Amino acid sequence: MSTTEKTPEKKRVHVKTWGCQMNVYDSERMTGLLKPLGYETTETPEEADLVILNTCHIREKAAEKVYSELGRLKDVKARGGTIAVAGCVAQAEGAEIQARAPQVDFVIGPQSYHKLPEIIAKTARGTGENLYTEFDVDEKFDALEEGRQAEGYSAFVTVQEGCDKFCTFCVVPYTRGAEVSRNADAVTLEVRQLAQQGVREITLLGQNVNAWHGAPPVGASGEAWGLGELVRHLARIDGIDRIRFTTSHPKDMDDGLIAAFGEEPKLMPYLHLPVQAGNDRVLKAMNRAHTAESYLRQIEAVRAVRPDIAISGDMIVGFPGEDDAAFEDTMALVREVGYASCFSFKYSRRPGTPGAAMPKQVPEDVKSERLQRLQALLNEQRHAFDRAQVGRTLDILFEKPGRLDGQLLGKSPYLQSVHVIAPESLLGQIVPIRIEEAGPNSLRGVLV
Ligand code: SAH
Ligand code: SF4
Ligand code: F3S
Repeated sequence: MSTTEKTPEKKRVHVKTWGCQMNVYDSERMTGLLKPLGYETTETPEEADLVILNTCHIREKAAEKVYSELGRLKDVKARGGTIAVAGCVAQAEGAEIQARAPQVDFVIGPQSYHKLPEIIAKTARGTGENLYTEFDVDEKFDALEEGRQAEGYSAFVTVQEGCDKFCTFCVVPYTRGAEVSRNADAVTLEVRQLAQQGVREITLLGQNVNAWHGAPPVGASGEAWGLGELVRHLARIDGIDRIRFTTSHPKDMDDGLIAAFGEEPKLMPYLHLPVQAGNDRVLKAMNRAHTAESYLRQIEAVRAVRPDIAISGDMIVGFPGEDDAAFEDTMALVREVGYASCFSFKYSRRPGTPGAAMPKQVPEDVKSERLQRLQALLNEQRHAFDRAQVGRTLDILFEKPGRLDGQLLGKSPYLQSVHVIAPESLLGQIVPIRIEEAGPNSLRGVLV
């Protein structure tokens, strides 16, 4: 009888991801942590031994999806498979998940992913708990540092987690905990490793990425760094040609970061800077710590150093107390900014947030009507921005084959999808492309 088993038995894990890029990144890291245990990823839950649902709690609709998905996973359970719920619903409603969905083997919050291998082993032995939702961000960053496998030419890199802003509509401060910055040396090491694996573009991620601050890298002099300094530092890494960051808060948009858009050519001309609303009374009730005017001045400052920059944002309509006049202020702000792209949502009342208990909740049909008007305007603006690229030559980073034969799909500096008939040898290359046409969701270009 053998007592040791060197190679772990082959198993399959299926991860389904909802929510923001932070979750996309976390899912990738979870599968990375499971690889040494013998887990290969599979696209379908049907053939998985382990299913992880990486969930989002931001709006009610997002949160409810996990329960309908769990209903569909009966087969996994019948085959003796394991079901885990991760992400922000796990963090916010762990006990409720267990009550509503007893088929779930364990619930794991975003701060506990580094413990995943240990939890899986315990679950297999039948000695696991079923709720892992303590906050322990530092340890998580440490455990995630090593041995990352890059996929493709563009990669996310988490540099900051959590949020201290407590906007009154938002669950993130409760699901992700306080703001923590990863240190510059750890980030640099990860980006170097990615560059060695062929990555050309990195997107620095954080719930409030521009709140990033940290001690300078070992050997560098000076005081604590902000994101602008980190960007400039990472730009010196050979092989990395494009840097992006998301998501930013207006409060943390400092001069150093704004200046970097004008001075660091590797920092791409795209800024996602959510404002949420255009009326100061509503912004105050949202606890946003900025006014419509201060936001517009920031956009002006960014455009002064990088006139072609694509501005993106997030908007909420129907926050409690938003009357018709306040909504018109949002429309006016949008007209003044001219967004290249912008997400917009109906306010969703989230349990435990101050907004949920506020008077003057806006009726659903009013929210729908406002959202429709806002989205019509935002769509127009997006198409106008896209059409303005026609005839220009843009540098495109080719990331993957397109849908049609002989076609490649890439990204413009402004984060637009561009498809081009081009040889596969150009994958991973940054190539000048003349834009010929702006479609509803992408641009078409030709090699010059
Ligand atoms: N930290 C980021 C993103 C947070 S979540 C930021 O501050 O910009 C992404 C977007 O979801 C928010 O910008 C907001 O527009 C939206 N959102 C958050 N809570 C919401 C709620 N309760 N109802 C509707 N939209 C919400
Ligand atoms: Fe939520 Fe506001 Fe924090 Fe963004 S800044 S994550 S909207 S609380
Ligand atoms: Fe959703 Fe959590 Fe991201 S609530 S938006 S997955 S931080």
